[in-house]
Amino acid sequence: MKDENLEQFPSVPLPMIGRLGRGVSTMPDTHETGYFSENNSAEVVTGRNKNARDERLKFAMEVITRKLHEAVKEIEPTQEEWFEAIMFLTRTGHKCDDWRQEFILLSDVLGVSMLVDAVNSRRPTGASENTVLGPFHVSDAPEYPMGTNICLDQKGEDLVVRGKITDVDGHPLEGAKIDVWQANDEGFYDVQQKGIQPEFNLRGVFRTGTDGTYWFRAVRPKHYSIPSDGPVGALLTQLGRHPYRPAHLHYIVEKEGYDRLTTHIFDPDDAYLHSDAVFGVKQSLIAEFVRVDDPSKAAEIGFNGPYWDVEFDFVLARK
Ligand code: BEZ
Ligand code: FE
Repeated sequence: MKDENLEQFPSVPLPMIGRLGRGVSTMPDTHETGYFSENNSAEVVTGRNKNARDERLKFAMEVITRKLHEAVKEIEPTQEEWFEAIMFLTRTGHKCDDWRQEFILLSDVLGVSMLVDAVNSRRPTGASENTVLGPFHVSDAPEYPMGTNICLDQKGEDLVVRGKITDVDGHPLEGAKIDVWQANDEGFYDVQQKGIQPEFNLRGVFRTGTDGTYWFRAVRPKHYSIPSDGPVGALLTQLGRHPYRPAHLHYIVEKEGYDRLTTHIFDPDDAYLHSDAVFGVKQSLIAEFVRVDDPSKAAEIGFNGPYWDVEFDFVLARK
């Protein structure tokens, strides 16, 4: 029996028909780079995108397709393995809701979030370094006067954090906005424990005065697990990896005309400092936590007993 489909798609590449002078074809030029084979797979697929409406998308898809095909050729997955990969992504999607973004978590544990951050925050020498934002920032934390204690659940070891915000020449920056947040003494952010922790526990916004300095009170952070009850946690287990982040405090520091700084400061004594599940640690962001036992200093700060003191300055780069 005659195959009508075959007649519709002659073996001569369609753009050739025009060049051979047989008139302009209205047929889709589906096979301009040849039929698909193992050897030319990436070229055939990316060639199909030649009329893409957006050059940037076309470029990104070309690179991604090329690398993905390369990976398949190197791994040579069985059909079962490929289906398992598809099911993993399906489970990742199903785990997402308004509060849980499992794809961002996947990007975090693959180091992709840090890499995207790195290519987007190249700064002059001397400027403070960025690190991963993480999923627990909220945009409406209360603004407080300097010195406020942001710990609302009275759990944990007292901590005072202080420092200065300057430009790369060392000039203090007045009116810089400092947005800070951290997990509580049990390793959870307030948004992970709605109804258990007070709202806005361990988060707040401060604004520098003329001398560029800041200070606030909080608690010494502890290491904690990233959400690990989903497919990303299962992947980490399969890979023999732990889900912990070393103890840290988050900061976003911003001022008009300067690059926004999204960063952390880390506790140098943390057991997970060298194996952060999301690769967020940078040498320049490791702080020093000093134990203060002097009762008169504690009283001055407003604490009842020994506390930890961290001094950490940030340097903003001009836009
Ligand atoms: C965080 O530090 O809050 C965080 C970052 C990446 C994934 C999970 C949590
Ligand atoms: Fe965090």
